[in-house]
Amino acid sequence: MKKRKRRIKKKIKIIFIISLVSIIVVAISMFLIILNNKVNLVLKKDLNVQINSEVSLYSFVEKIKSGEIISNDKEIDTSTLGKQDLSIKVKNGSTTKEYKFTINVVDTIKPEIDAPSEITTVVNKEVDLLKDVSVSDNSKEDIKVEVKGEYDFHKQGEYNLDYYAKDSSGNEATKQFKLIVVSDPDNMTFTTSKGFKGEVIDGVTYIDGVLIVNKTYSLPSDYGNGLTSATQNAFNEMNADAKSLNLNLWIASGYRSYWTQNTLYNNYVALDGKEEADTYSARPGHSEHQTGLAFDLNSVEESFANTDEGKWVKDNCYRYGLIIRYPKGKENITGYMYESWHLRYVGVDLATKLYNNGDWLTLEEYFGIDSKYESE
Ligand code: DAL
Ligand code: ZN
Repeated sequence: MKKRKRRIKKKIKIIFIISLVSIIVVAISMFLIILNNKVNLVLKKDLNVQINSEVSLYSFVEKIKSGEIISNDKEIDTSTLGKQDLSIKVKNGSTTKEYKFTINVVDTIKPEIDAPSEITTVVNKEVDLLKDVSVSDNSKEDIKVEVKGEYDFHKQGEYNLDYYAKDSSGNEATKQFKLIVVSDPDNMTFTTSKGFKGEVIDGVTYIDGVLIVNKTYSLPSDYGNGLTSATQNAFNEMNADAKSLNLNLWIASGYRSYWTQNTLYNNYVALDGKEEADTYSARPGHSEHQTGLAFDLNSVEESFANTDEGKWVKDNCYRYGLIIRYPKGKENITGYMYESWHLRYVGVDLATKLYNNGDWLTLEEYFGIDSKYESE
C-alpha cells in the first residue's frame, strides 16, 4: 500500500515537472515570436527642415529599434514653407506598422549680402551704392537690398552705413560699409577689398606702395618721362642671362607718353572699333607704358609666347622683378587679352608672389581691385 502511494506521488511529480517545462518552453517560444514580430521606429525629435534644403524620407529616422523600413527612401520637396505629412512603413515578421508624422518646412536662415566694404566718390558725384551689391538667400526669393543710414553726396565726409536685406520669413541681414565722399579725388586714401591701403597722390594711384594703372586707375596726362632706371636695370639683367642661354631679347616699345598712347589707341579704334580696341590697347592715361615701368618685348605678337624667348621669359622674368602683366586666362580680370610680351616692373618680392609657381596672378587679384572703365 505504502509502495503504491509512493509510486503515485512519483508519477505526479514527473507529470508536474513535465508540465512546468512545457509551460516554460511555450512561454519562451511565445515571447520569441512576439519579439520577432515587434516593430519599433524612433523618429527624430526635430522635424523642422529649412526651405530648399536637401532632405530625404530616411533622414527623419533617429533609429530603428526593431523591424526594418519597407518604404522606399525619397527626396522630400522642401520648396514651400509649411507642414507636410509623411509616413514610413516598418515591417518585422508578420507585423507591419505605418509611422505617420508631420514635418515643417521653415526658413530661419538670414539672407547673405555680398557687397564692397568701402565706396569712394567725389563731392557732388552721386554713385549707385547698390551697383556692386548682391544678395542670396535659401528661400531663392528675389530680395531687395536697402541702404540704411544718413549720407550726403554733396558733403565731404565718411559715412558709416548699412546694407539691409530681409526675406519673406522675416530673417534680417545687415552688412556695414563706409561711404567716403572726398573733395579732391587726386589726393585721397582708400582701402581695397583685400584690405590693402590705397593712396592717390596728385592723381597717381599707389596700392601698398605699388603704382597701379589699369582701366580703373589712370595717370595725369603729364606723367612720365621714360623708363625708370629700376625697370631698365631689370631688363638689362634679364637680357644678360637670356644672352648666356642664346636667347635674344629686345625692348620693342618702352615708355609711351599720354599723347603717343592717344594716337596709338585712336588708330586701333579706327581699325577695329572701340570695343575690340579696348581688349588690347589702353586708352590714353590708362596705359602702363606711361608709367615707365612697363615694356613690350620682341615681336609684340601672339607668336612670341611660343618662341624659346617667350617661354623662358614667362618662367624667369619674376627673378628680375618683372611680371607678365596680362596673363592667359585672366582677360576678364585685367580687362586685356593675354600679352606674353608685356612686362611690368614691380620688384622681386611682389613679382615672386605673382609668379605663384608658374600660375601667374594679376595685380588686380592680389590687391583686390577692379580694372573697368568708369563709363561702362
Ligand atoms: N597693350 C597695353 C594694354 C597697353 O596699351 O598699354
Ligand atoms: Zn605693352
